[in-house]
Amino acid sequence: MAGISMSAQENLDLIPALLAPYKMASFSLSHRIVLAPMSRLRSYNFVAQPHAVLYYSQRTTQGGFLIGEASGVSATAQGYPNTPGVWTKEQVEAWKPVVDAVHKKGGIFFCQLWHAGRASDNCFQPDGQPPISCTDKPIRAKTHIDGVTEASFPAPRKLTTREITRVVDDFRKAARNAMEAGFDGVEIHGANGYLIDQFLKDQVNDRTDEYGGSLENRCRFPLQIVEAVADEIGADRVGIRLSPFADYNDCADSNPEALGLYMARSLNKYGVLYCHMIEPRMITQFDSRKTEDGLLRMRKAFEGTFIVAGGYGRKDGNEVVGSGGADLVAFGRLFLANPDLPRRFELNAALNEYDRNTFYTHDPVVGYTDYPFLETDN
Ligand SMILES: Cc1cc2nc3c(=O)[nH]c(=O)nc-3n(C[C@H](O)[C@H](O)[C@H](O)COP(=O)(O)O)c2cc1C
Repeated sequence: MAGISMSAQENLDLIPALLAPYKMASFSLSHRIVLAPMSRLRSYNFVAQPHAVLYYSQRTTQGGFLIGEASGVSATAQGYPNTPGVWTKEQVEAWKPVVDAVHKKGGIFFCQLWHAGRASDNCFQPDGQPPISCTDKPIRAKTHIDGVTEASFPAPRKLTTREITRVVDDFRKAARNAMEAGFDGVEIHGANGYLIDQFLKDQVNDRTDEYGGSLENRCRFPLQIVEAVADEIGADRVGIRLSPFADYNDCADSNPEALGLYMARSLNKYGVLYCHMIEPRMITQFDSRKTEDGLLRMRKAFEGTFIVAGGYGRKDGNEVVGSGGADLVAFGRLFLANPDLPRRFELNAALNEYDRNTFYTHDPVVGYTDYPFLETDN
């Protein structure tokens, strides 16, 4: 019946773009729907907990790509209660069963390496010291990064030139630890107004040494981290997340496009696996605006896998991949509330609504592992 048989190409054409397989260097992804990194504040005393096993495995599919929540690289890295770390042996051991559970279901799991910098408080710092940054100017914003919760931040201590190389080394060691925990790779958290972003952005970075001033100088610390981490675990296991257009945590740049392009081009020199950028439309983590700005120039400049995030749903997710604007799309809130998001997208099924009130609460079940799956799959 040659008349009705389909060619492989025609068959592929029928698959929505988000559900098409993708080869990310040595990783074979079965679809393009990525779990975005999301801090859930349920890692008591900075240690991943057994309940994270269920949370991450619920969101795992065979060949699915998951990015873990921001994990502190050192004792000075934390900025919220109950976020996990990867700088002690205990923390590494605690991650192992979580990573194992994801691997058992065939997922590919990266650890997001994080330093909050000045988006922290003395109460999270060793001996109640001030948090560290590229500057001694505090965050002036009166709300947390979610744009809702009230906040006031202390003045940070400005790192000396020599200390900066130690922080680079903390990222290197944390990457090694993440691999020891079994992760498949790491994502360097260079977004959302945390330490790396503080160095990148000209409205924050007021240094006069080789880490401040020109674009090249402001990107030096982030790129030194990229180089150190890539040397340690291999560039093909390293991604980076950037948000050049955002000004969360009082962290803006006067020329975000130039910054994004400079980083995209520089990353090519290190051959990193992927660049993960947040859409300019995101004003806070949660609210979006209309803007003419886009990520296409950065996408074209970067030679590896390009991941986009920020406000995506099924329709525009398919569009951005289908039009070549991205290879993969990371979904945050929709994946948080829909553990079976790829399946729901496949069936074009209705989605559970997320409950913002439980994003950052500390309960090991409520708002965490109790979002329902599609009934047909139970
Ligand atoms: C509860 C919650 C926690 C988040 N924590 C992180 C984080 O640890 N690291 C990070 O890079 N982004 C974090 N984000 C931002 C998300 O990764 C994502 O960029 C954002 O939610 C926008 O995407 P969405 O519209 O698909 O939700 C968080 C978002 C939410 C909702």
